[in-house]
Amino acid sequence: MDKNSSLISIDYNSKLLEIAQKLLASDTRLSLECVDGEARVNQNLGQKFDYIFADTWHGKYLMLDEVLEMLNIGGLYIIDDMLPQENWPEGHAKRPCI
Ligand SMILES: C[S@@+](CC[C@H](N)C(=O)[O-])C[C@H]1O[C@@H](n2cnc3c(N)ncnc32)[C@H](O)[C@@H]1O
Repeated sequence: MDKNSSLISIDYNSKLLEIAQKLLASDTRLSLECVDGEARVNQNLGQKFDYIFADTWHGKYLMLDEVLEMLNIGGLYIIDDMLPQENWPEGHAKRPCI
């Protein structure tokens, strides 16, 4: 990111955000939001991004159309772990999406 960039990272687990806050708080370009993914998307449908990394259900398996609509033309949409991994814990692949 350059000095004019900004990054919003969301998670509904405040404990994880506390770790990120502790390590990255000095970077004023970063905003950490403790919020449910579905609510965050629904409340910000008009927001546009140059880069979206969807690392949980929303924007990856759920609400894909809404999240892709939030991407600027030419922006980057990144997801990972789309294929089963050897190191997944037992039953992970069968976990429900919500
Ligand atoms: C695969 S982890 C990725 C975490 C982080 N991006 C990383 O690379 O370490 C998925 C994260 O999504 C969060 N999560 C799961 N369901 C969520 C939801 N409905 N709203 C917000 N966050 C959610 C979990 O708490 C978890 O931290």
